[in-house]
Amino acid sequence: MIFNSTLYSNAAFEPTNLSSEEWEKVYSSLVNDNTLPTLNVGADETQVSLCWHSDADKAVAQVRVADNQEMNNSKLFEGVKSPAENPNQVVCRVVIDGLVEKSVYYYQWYTDKGWSKAYKYETKSFGDHKVMVVGDIQITEIRENGDSSEQSRVGLYWNNFLAGVLAENPDISYLISPGDNTSTGSTDAEWQTLLMPESLRSLPVALAIGNHDKKGMTYNYFTNMPNEDYGRFFTGLDRDFWFRYGDVLYLCFDSTSGNAPDHMKFAKEAVEQNKDAKWRIGLIHHGIHGAGDAIGDTETEVLLTNIFAPIFQIYDIDLVVTGHTHSQGRSHFMHSGKIKAEAPTGGRFVNPEGIVYLNSNVVSDVYDDDFDAEHLAYKLVEDEVTTYTTLEFKGNELILETRRGDNHELLDSIIIEKTEEHNDKSIDKFFRKMTYKIIEVVGFIYTMVDNLVRKFS
Ligand SMILES: [Fe+2]
Repeated sequence: MIFNSTLYSNAAFEPTNLSSEEWEKVYSSLVNDNTLPTLNVGADETQVSLCWHSDADKAVAQVRVADNQEMNNSKLFEGVKSPAENPNQVVCRVVIDGLVEKSVYYYQWYTDKGWSKAYKYETKSFGDHKVMVVGDIQITEIRENGDSSEQSRVGLYWNNFLAGVLAENPDISYLISPGDNTSTGSTDAEWQTLLMPESLRSLPVALAIGNHDKKGMTYNYFTNMPNEDYGRFFTGLDRDFWFRYGDVLYLCFDSTSGNAPDHMKFAKEAVEQNKDAKWRIGLIHHGIHGAGDAIGDTETEVLLTNIFAPIFQIYDIDLVVTGHTHSQGRSHFMHSGKIKAEAPTGGRFVNPEGIVYLNSNVVSDVYDDDFDAEHLAYKLVEDEVTTYTTLEFKGNELILETRRGDNHELLDSIIIEKTEEHNDKSIDKFFRKMTYKIIEVVGFIYTMVDNLVRKFS
C-alpha cells in the first residue's frame, strides 16, 4: 500500500464531447506525434501500467504518483525501456502498483519535455464493479495520398462516443475490447488517434489482438498487457494474456493464431493460478457463435470454433466477448456447438450450463447486416449505430447490458447468478482434454502453414 487516499468522488472521468472545430485542433496538433501513453490494466486490481514512446537519447522510464494534483509527496515508479519500431525512439513501460480501492490518484510520466501534466486516475471498488465493452475500435489509416480526413472523422467519433458512455456510466472501472484496435497495424498515427481522447488517461484498457492489428506490428509497441504468454509456437505479434480484477479472471486469446497447443497451455496455467476467481471471462477477436458475417464463415465457424470452444468449455468460462463482424449479437447458452439452454433478453439465469458469447460491434464502420442463426438470443440488424455493453459484477450476479452509444437506450440484457464454484474435474472435461490432442495437432499444422504463407506473401 503506498497511499492512504480516501478522496473517492465517483467522478473518475472528465469526458469531453468536442465539436468538429475543437477536435480538428486536437487532432492536427497531435497526429504527427506518437508519444501519447496507453493506460493499461494491471495484472490485478491493485495495478495499472503506462507505456509510451520517447526519444532514445532522452527517455526516462519513470512515472510518479501522488494523492494530490500538486504532486506533493509523490512516489516514483521505475520501469524498463525497450526498442521501438524506429531506432530514434524507445518504448517506456512502467507498472504502478499498491493501488487501493476507492481512491483518487494523480500521475505524471516522463516525456521528452520533462514531466507531463498530472492526470487523474480514480480506483473504484475492487469487489463489485462495472466494465465497459466496446468492439473493434479500428482507427482507420491515413490514406496513401496523405488524406487524413477519414482518420480524423473516426477519431472524433471515438472521442465523443467514449465521452458519452463515460458521462452516462461514471462508475466504469476499465475497458475491454476484442481487438482490431487499428486498421493496418502498421502506422503510429492509428494508435496516436486511438489514444487522443483524454478520457483514456483515466480509463485502463485491455485490448486483444485482431486480424487488422496482425497486418503490422504496432500493437507490440503501444500496449503493455499483463501476464503476456508468448507460447512455444507463436510468432510475430502473437501472444495471449490474462489479468485479474477482484473476483474476475480474464483470459484474452489471440485468435489470429490457430496455435491450439499454446492456447490450451495458456488457459490451463492462467486458471490454475486463479482458482479462487468466481468468474472467468474470455476475450477473443473472432465471432465464434457470433452475429453478422461470422455466420457461414468457414475460418470462424469451423477452424476457430473447434480450436477455442473446447478450451472455453474445459475451463468453464462463463462469458466470451468477441468482435470482428461489426455486428452486435449475443448467443444462447452454448455447449459443444449446440444450444444448451435459451437465454432470452431480460432473462435471469441461476447457475446456467453452457457459455454465452457476446459479439460486440465496432466504432468506425458499423455494418447494417441482416442475418439470422439459431444460436442467437439477441441481434441488432437495424440502424448503423455503435453499441456498447457493460458487465456489472455485483455479489453473485453478472449483469450484462447492451445499449446504443448515441442515446443509451437499453437493447439487450441478461443476469447470470452464480452460487456454485467452477467444476474443473468432470468426466466430460477429462475426455474433452483427451480428444483435444487431435485439435492441437491440426491447429499446430495450420499455424505452421499460416506462418509460412504470411512470411512469403
Ligand atoms: Fe477483424
